Amino acid sequence: MTKSWTVPTLARHKVANGDAPLVMVTAYDAPGARMVDAAGADLILVGDSVAMVVLGYDDPLQVTVTDMAYHVAAVRRAKPNPLVVGDLPWMSYHLSEVDSVNNAALLIRAGAQSVKLEGGAKRVPMVKAIVNAEIPVMGHLGLTPQSTHAMGGFRVQAKELAAARELLDDAKALVDAGVFAIVLEGVPDVVAELITREIPVPTIGIGAGRGCDGQVLVFHDLLGFEERIRPKFVRRYANLGADGIEAISRYAADVRSGAFPAEAETYHASAEVAAALRSS
Ligand code: KIV
Repeated sequence: MTKSWTVPTLARHKVANGDAPLVMVTAYDAPGARMVDAAGADLILVGDSVAMVVLGYDDPLQVTVTDMAYHVAAVRRAKPNPLVVGDLPWMSYHLSEVDSVNNAALLIRAGAQSVKLEGGAKRVPMVKAIVNAEIPVMGHLGLTPQSTHAMGGFRVQAKELAAARELLDDAKALVDAGVFAIVLEGVPDVVAELITREIPVPTIGIGAGRGCDGQVLVFHDLLGFEERIRPKFVRRYANLGADGIEAISRYAADVRSGAFPAEAETYHASAEVAAALRSS
């Protein structure tokens, strides 16, 4: 049985204090959320990665807050125990504080219990405005996929000393603005360790080494749905893509050979009705 988390409890959760590392997995629909819940995860992230792993786009920039609300609602209908974090998509928190609060509220009304947004010090006014509207915010620093064009692609960040120090300042600025946790993506392990040591809220890593207060993986990466892209930090715990192709191929062969559907998979009318129909 998964522990039901509250944001205040999560915000104090640190491995350095003897707490177990947090487990976060993405989900985008009800069956996915049920699986993540049954596996005992602590948090479900309805990530804008939905754009790439479900909707077929090459980057996350194509999804809107309406798309995200649709997927948050589907996850929430599964009534999962893990805390649901709704990802604010690109351009939903970049223009104004009012815009950011309204968009965060859309995800909360769809069923999220908190929202996540990308970026550091420059997002502080938006984070403060959302937190002031009583909506818990998770930060996201390092390789921030919504900045793919600005970063020149999905590249490991903060490899140089100055950039690492800047990232730490960003993390502290987000904490001061009120975030309850920070995702650290695509940064060297020492950088993640430093930030984890220096801030009072949990860090959740993805491609950030073992020194964080938790880890997150994308559902489809973890379960091996596809082999097209395989970042170094992904560990596959299943091969559902290959297993699915094999299963669908067996179904196709059974349909073509007449082996499906079988007697047990068929509905029958009464003998009387069947006889009348057959003779008509
Ligand atoms: O959208 C997403 O799935 C994410 C994770 C990779 C952290 O932001």
